[in-house]
Amino acid sequence: MTTPTINIILFTVFALGLSIWGMQHNGREQASVSACYGSCYTEWEESNGGVVAIAQAQAAAKAEASPAELGEGAYLGCVACHGPNGGGGVGPQLAGQSADVILGKLQRYGKGETLGPQSALMWSQAAQLSDNDMNNISAYIATF
Ligand code: HEC
Repeated sequence: MTTPTINIILFTVFALGLSIWGMQHNGREQASVSACYGSCYTEWEESNGGVVAIAQAQAAAKAEASPAELGEGAYLGCVACHGPNGGGGVGPQLAGQSADVILGKLQRYGKGETLGPQSALMWSQAAQLSDNDMNNISAYIATF
């Protein structure tokens, strides 16, 4: 056998082993979930209200979330340049600015206005945000 052939065989054995290992580990997790049936499931349903009730509770929590809470998720797209707490980095520090000031700047970037020498970086960011997003993100930044 030539060396490439041996390499291919070795790789195939390795890949097969890896996928079997993966299946076994998945199986273990599934087993622990599907092992809850009968009285186990009834108890779970009684204490949690079942899947429908959980989905309703999650939807209600989202509807009641404040703008700042909703903005937290949307701010994830800004972290790389402005830091997790708005301390700045590639982009300027946002912490310490009021929601109104932040909102005003985002709206101006959204219209393609130039605020500083690197505004082009923010035009594409602001273009991806809806009015709601801008409100929520500004409220979140004001909590830093
Ligand atoms: C690719 C890096 C990058 C990302 C991602 C980014 N920004 Fe920026 N941001 C900048 C830079 C650079 C500036 C300075 C632009 C200028 O010169 O006008 C800036 C400026 C700003 C300003 C004005 C700050 C000031 O004090 O003048 C605000 C507000 C802002 N960004 C908010 C955001 C928000 C909210 C997001 C996420 C939706 C975001 N940025 C994502 C790089 C980024």
